[in-house]
Amino acid sequence: MGHLSNRNIIIGVSGGIAAYKAAELVRLLRREGAIVRVIMSRGALAFITPLSMQALSGNPVHTELLDEDAEMGMGHIELARWADMLILAPATADVIARLAQGRADDLLTTVALATTAPLYVAPAMNQNMWLNPATATNIATLTERGITVVGPIAGDQACGDNGPGRLLEPVEMLAAITNRLPARPLGGKRVVITAGPTREALDPVRYLSNHSSGKMGFALAGAAAEAGAEVVLITGPVALESPDHISRVDVESAQEMLAAVMDAVSSGTDIFIAAAAVADYRPISVEAQKIKKTESELSLALVRNPDILKTVANATNRPPLVIGFAAETHQVAQHANLKLVTKSLDAIVANDVSRSDIGFNSDYNAVALFTALGSEITLEGSKRVVAESLIAAFTEMLESKATNIMGTTNG
Ligand code: PMT
Repeated sequence: MGHLSNRNIIIGVSGGIAAYKAAELVRLLRREGAIVRVIMSRGALAFITPLSMQALSGNPVHTELLDEDAEMGMGHIELARWADMLILAPATADVIARLAQGRADDLLTTVALATTAPLYVAPAMNQNMWLNPATATNIATLTERGITVVGPIAGDQACGDNGPGRLLEPVEMLAAITNRLPARPLGGKRVVITAGPTREALDPVRYLSNHSSGKMGFALAGAAAEAGAEVVLITGPVALESPDHISRVDVESAQEMLAAVMDAVSSGTDIFIAAAAVADYRPISVEAQKIKKTESELSLALVRNPDILKTVANATNRPPLVIGFAAETHQVAQHANLKLVTKSLDAIVANDVSRSDIGFNSDYNAVALFTALGSEITLEGSKRVVAESLIAAFTEMLESKATNIMGTTNG
């Protein structure tokens, strides 16, 4: 997987002779795994066709701010929200001036104003326009606002001049952008995560379940995706929006969760994290019709559900790192460490679910991470913060495992 895998990138093309280079940039970004959409200004349409950009990006090209069809599909605000990054290449002197003024008089400048994603500007213009104090002031304004300006370089210009104002070459633009990206320590790795409760049907209207909201597993999925991993999130029924850039599989019962997990890990997985609260038992049979109440007591006969975590940890294609969670109400460390051993795990995250301020359904958690090598760390905070620290710890564990295997092989 490339440096930009699954990142949503908008290329904004404005009207200059260098517009053709944007086509090559789109191709390179897609090769790095990015999902690319292109916005073209009216001026850009005079230099390069939307059809070329559509073919290269694999997505329809956006050109108009006030377009009924576009607003019904992906309108300007949706585009602004969708983007993880906006790259204006080439950015003409005019578009730079309009950005500096905060104008929103076409689709390109409107999306640039409406997005909270990082903005990259790659200027291209005649050398005198670039050296003009008006442009210098506009560039300084953009830089002060945190917009990254990449290039221009000096060289031969289309107008016959030689000097500063040439658009960076597409490979140089790509390098300038990827060099500024935050590190993605799990880039190229695949992480499978379970989350939420399972529901074990009694009859068509009733089920056995628990209080898991899925928040902890979803936070882990978001943090792993942010660290660059390809994430598959297998979740029981929850009322949560998916984090960005993950694949989600919705299931109901423990048996369905097991099937989805085995399918997901079969195509090669680096880390498996079981944050789901899987029901240990299910009714021995599911009644076809609603169970009617009577005056007498009702007994339920239950059978054990498969242990998903243990199954993965003992599979022939076991992921290098298998991590469990332990939801305990007493003797938390003791019970967690027992599960670490009996389920053949690399590490277990213990949380005390007797507390109402953490654990089930809360936005916060306090956990202890016990590893098979005997180390222990404690973490506390919002589930997102705890998840980020856990993902950092798992990344280190994965790296040191790989180093040890290499050491053994070489020795
Ligand atoms: O979802 P939230 O509201 O955010 O709450 C988070 C949480 C408390 C559910 C989470 O932090 C947590 O502790 N998850 C594990 C809950 C649990 O079922 O723990 P357990 O001790 O019963 O199971 C031990 C481990 O085996 C867990 O990783 C569990 O996913 C796994 N397991 C259990 C039974 C089973 N049949 N299959 C499994 O894979």
